[in-house]
Amino acid sequence: MFPRLATWLLIWFGITFPAYPAAKQWPQGTTTRFYDFKIQTTRVNKLCNSNEIVTVNNMFPGPVVYAQEGDRLIIKVTNLSPYNATIHWHGVRQILSCWFDGPSYITQCPITPGQSFTYEFTMVKQRGTFFWHAHVSWLRATVYGALIVYPKAGVPYPFPFPYEEHIIILGEYWSQDIVQLERQVIASGGVPPPANAYTINGHPGPNYNCSTNGNIAYVYKIDLVPGKTYLLRLINAGLNTENFFAIANHKLTIVEADAEYTKPFTTDRVMLGPGQTLNVLVKADQPIARYSMAIGPYISARNAQFQNITSVAYFQYSGAVPSSLSLPARLPNINDNLAVKTVMDGLKGLNTKDDVPKEIDATLFLTIGLNVNKCRSPTPQQNCQGMNNGTMAASMNNISFIKPTVSVLESYYKGFEDYFTPDFPAAPLRFYDFVNGAPNSAPNDTNAMNGTRTKVIEYGTRVQIILQDTGTVTTENHPIHLHGYSFYVVGYGSGNYNPQTANLNLVDPPYMNTIGVPVGGWAAIRFKADNPGVWFIHCHFDLHQSWGLATALIVKNGVGHLETLPHPPADLPRC
Ligand code: C2O
Repeated sequence: MFPRLATWLLIWFGITFPAYPAAKQWPQGTTTRFYDFKIQTTRVNKLCNSNEIVTVNNMFPGPVVYAQEGDRLIIKVTNLSPYNATIHWHGVRQILSCWFDGPSYITQCPITPGQSFTYEFTMVKQRGTFFWHAHVSWLRATVYGALIVYPKAGVPYPFPFPYEEHIIILGEYWSQDIVQLERQVIASGGVPPPANAYTINGHPGPNYNCSTNGNIAYVYKIDLVPGKTYLLRLINAGLNTENFFAIANHKLTIVEADAEYTKPFTTDRVMLGPGQTLNVLVKADQPIARYSMAIGPYISARNAQFQNITSVAYFQYSGAVPSSLSLPARLPNINDNLAVKTVMDGLKGLNTKDDVPKEIDATLFLTIGLNVNKCRSPTPQQNCQGMNNGTMAASMNNISFIKPTVSVLESYYKGFEDYFTPDFPAAPLRFYDFVNGAPNSAPNDTNAMNGTRTKVIEYGTRVQIILQDTGTVTTENHPIHLHGYSFYVVGYGSGNYNPQTANLNLVDPPYMNTIGVPVGGWAAIRFKADNPGVWFIHCHFDLHQSWGLATALIVKNGVGHLETLPHPPADLPRC
């Protein structure tokens, strides 16, 4: 280990450091931490099948990356798999380090098989529960892991220090090649099959076939000391489904959402969309027994196919009879919108008041929703399996985002003209009753436009984005994620956004990076565009992302080197 570390240090001080010699206030971490990621295929046995899945370092979920606020992370990613790969550090704001953000064809081209790329970034003023995941095709299905960042030494949590902490990653598992599945689904024009299982830390749990082994292995379990308080770091890495999470007979107290502290809020259950993280405190204050921790689907779309078997893990008091039945957790109904709203209403930022932009310089109005495009294939049987014999799509402002063949960031930086356009509209072409008035049946009426259209924003602009769900095809709660920033969720509601009646919270809104826009409703978010780069904003359902529910915000450089994106790293993958 040591010689390797020394080599790295040499590289670090010898090459990288002199590139920014004058940067006294450069975000310099106290410690630099090195990780080595090998993306590879790994054979696993799940659901009575043996499958090859893509993993990092043969681990599923992948290795946990630990750091402390202010640390610099240097992670060498080597791609030994047969697929293109990138890794995104979800929730990390990447201050002046957009090149290392990870979304394929947005900030970099993929790391091709056999190649490697070293990600380097600093955890500037961030701490909490993050995760990393592949950002290419649907590889995130198995390529994900936690990224845990502790506060600076001597800085306490704003809540009682827990006895222990545990990471709980929710996932969705398919017993088939996921890259192939994406290709097939997109080529078919239709919708994918539901996941074969939900998973907790990679385990489907006892409700699925071949998923227990004498009740011991194969089920994730937390052993408890009665009377103690536990911190659970919940992460939804799932591909296409939002999930409820609950523990039988236990209350959950939310203290952090998307790696930002919240005022404590106690509830029986929570909902996490893909891309969301929540820290909850749980007190082991119930009679000694074995309790279930369970995840089940939250399905807000009409006529959606979904996996209905809940995934279960155990929350087990020491002294409980190991073979005892576990008390079942009570999950809300799959379409319990009120349960979702209740949790959202409970999320209030801790000490966010002074930082919330009270005035705004620019508003973007983005409709988010699905489309059915008219069939244009000579072989409709194969390629137009969407509703009304059309092809399914998704869009923002009725534009489906097409990923370019050279990354938007590289094209922008080098001034290439051909790979994207700067004309993403700040509002939809037409205002109508987005939620109820959209034509639902005729495919030709719901056609989306295609384009790699981006929105250019001046450095320092205080931006408000209104995200408006549409009823085209179906209304649905979409988890919208913005790269490069956290944003204040200053308002949300059902129906069409109306500036006259919208109630905004400028006092204690939560500071998040992924917002589940209410089904058939809207959300208003605010942030100051002070991090130059190209930042993807998209639905964190991979299906919707593939269908085009995305755009990119280009935030220009400001003045001086502290407001200017540095040049690209030498090993940036080429297209
Ligand atoms: Cu976690 Cu662009 O995603």
